[in-house]
Amino acid sequence: MRVVSTKTSRTRPSSPPTARAVLLWFVLGTALASAVVIGGGYVALRSVAIDEAKRDTRAKVLEVAHLVESVIGDDILAGGQAAVTAVDDVVIARVLDASVVRVKIWSADGRVVYSDLPAQVGGRYALDDEQLALLREGGAEVEVSSLDRPENALDRGQGELIEAYTRIRTPSGTPALLEIYQRFDSVNASARRLLGALAPPILGGMALLLLVQAPLVWSLSRRLQRGHEEREALLANAIAASNRERRRVASYLHDGPVQEIAGLAFALAPVAEDAKRRGEAEVATELGAAIERLRLTVRDLRALLVELHPPHLAAAGLEAAITDLVSPLEGQGVDVSVAVRGGDAIDQGQEALVFRVAQEAVRNVIAHADPRRVEVAVVGGLAGARLVVADDGRGFDPDERAARAAEGHLGLALLEELVRQAGGRLVVRSEPGEGTTVELDVPSR
Ligand SMILES: Nc1ncnc2c1ncn2[C@@H]1O[C@H](COP(=O)(O)OP(=O)(O)OP(=O)(O)O)[C@@H](O)[C@H]1O
Ligand SMILES: [Mg+2]
Repeated sequence: MRVVSTKTSRTRPSSPPTARAVLLWFVLGTALASAVVIGGGYVALRSVAIDEAKRDTRAKVLEVAHLVESVIGDDILAGGQAAVTAVDDVVIARVLDASVVRVKIWSADGRVVYSDLPAQVGGRYALDDEQLALLREGGAEVEVSSLDRPENALDRGQGELIEAYTRIRTPSGTPALLEIYQRFDSVNASARRLLGALAPPILGGMALLLLVQAPLVWSLSRRLQRGHEEREALLANAIAASNRERRRVASYLHDGPVQEIAGLAFALAPVAEDAKRRGEAEVATELGAAIERLRLTVRDLRALLVELHPPHLAAAGLEAAITDLVSPLEGQGVDVSVAVRGGDAIDQGQEALVFRVAQEAVRNVIAHADPRRVEVAVVGGLAGARLVVADDGRGFDPDERAARAAEGHLGLALLEELVRQAGGRLVVRSEPGEGTTVELDVPSR
């Protein structure tokens, strides 16, 4: 026989998390949710604020274009000082402020012909497609400035900026580009301001939720925990009580009737001998038969003792107990394998049920199956324990089982009831000539 086992020690199955752990998870979850709401809110509000700022800058550039067009001269494109001064006056007096920090005018060939920062004048940069389109078609373009571009070398140090372009025309109708830069800081500031207004009610709401639900979470998980403990205690009590009862009956049988009857058979043996010697053959035969019956009764009672008080499961272990169960089969030359895996995860209650089902299934194999091969497999895991007893014997059909049940042979029926009560599932599969498989699943509590 092969015996496979990975069982090394026994531990309790996973019990529900403690109330403290559940509460901690709940608080952490709420904090995380708040962080997501606040963070997400900031990003969303900032994007709204950026759109708002772009609209604002766009309106501003059109307004500035109008002002500049009213004073600009044609010779600005050639760097004429009078034209520059005229634009400069308007820009310094009426455009530049805390928010608009730079104004530039570009010629259609990409030259900076005016900037309120004179050092920028004369620089030449290739215009991009959007700028060229603006020159042709008019309109306005707004974007967040990339301050790392060479043309913006002198615009750095002001924090983030939004830039806007539009087309202007000199008095003769030559198109040029007007560009303004507006500070962006205000966007972050306004997102923060909006969030500052929204955060207290959001956080307050979350805190309220926490305050209202935390006691509920606490008491529910405490109840769950207590329920689990009570069930465990009940089961342990029931098992202990039934074991006590069995032991009591077993020891009564062992010390009382078994000894009495064995003693009686022992005491009657010389009497039978005497009768034989005296030539009372009939009496001797009757006595001999009675003695034989008494011996058979003692043997039956001893077998009952073993059933009532099997090797203590917890001490001997499931595998040893099952190995004992199948030993008669081995004696008959049947190929038997017993495999117990994940025994660590099987608790006492599950173990008792697994053993009880294995016992009946193996008894049935011995009594009815006449197999060549029998496999008994037990697998324990987080979800529960599973037992499979499979034989390749003669099998049976449902009618046969029903007929036997009607005669009071209720082994499997009682087992099904027992398993149902324990919240498990028992499936018996059989076909005449195809063998029988008994599968038990007991969930973890
Ligand atoms: N492994 C098996 N191989 C062949 N037949 C089986 C097997 N297990 C059960 N049976 C059939 O199913 C019937 C019902 O089994 P069940 O255990 O309920 O009763 P029993 O074994 O006949 O009697 P009891 O278990 O009450 O002593 C059996 O009588 C037998 O005909
Ligand atoms: Mg049976």
